[in-house]
Amino acid sequence: MALKKYDDWMKLSPEIFSFFMDGMLLTAGTKEDCNTMAVGWGGLGSLWSRPAATIYVRPTRHTLGFLEREDYFSLSVLPKEYDDKVNYCGTVSGRDEDKIKNCGFHVECGLGGTPYIAEAKLVLICKKILWDDIDPKKIVYPEDDAEVYPLKDYHRVYVGEIVEAWREA
Ligand SMILES: Cc1cc2nc3c(=O)[nH]c(=O)nc-3n(C[C@H](O)[C@H](O)[C@H](O)COP(=O)(O)O)c2cc1C
Repeated sequence: MALKKYDDWMKLSPEIFSFFMDGMLLTAGTKEDCNTMAVGWGGLGSLWSRPAATIYVRPTRHTLGFLEREDYFSLSVLPKEYDDKVNYCGTVSGRDEDKIKNCGFHVECGLGGTPYIAEAKLVLICKKILWDDIDPKKIVYPEDDAEVYPLKDYHRVYVGEIVEAWREA
């Protein structure tokens, strides 16, 4: 599938509302050295008058090191037929296997040399503009804390300014 740079990306809705519901891969690193993982929690919106994507990444994820090292990350929405591969990227760690190679994914780069999955139907390139760690004291429902964080591995939150978009031609 060929992706075309999508200059009209401010008009992406209504796809935007299903964005995190479709199989999505977060990729960070460089073309030669990157990692990818499934993400399901996050949102699209705006921050400081910039279009923005928010993601939540547990500190145990191998991808976190790549996110910390680089200024940019990408979000790649995969077509339905890739659900098994997205699930694989969401259950196996890049510490143990070369997930991109095993999936047969091709990596292309967007702005900032940011790697993304070329098989995607839609890609957002994001520049980190804010990060923070979830503070358990600020979780309103105790049952959410108990259910989601039995290991106390509170997510790191990244907000990325959406600086480029690619979609299927
Ligand atoms: C559908 C799906 C959504 C997921 N969403 C997230 C998420 O938003 N944040 C997160 O930290 N982990 C999430 N995960 C789990 C990671 O993708 C998974 O732990 C992955 O193996 C981490 O890979 P890594 O160690 O190579 O970074 C999700 C998994 C699946 C299957």
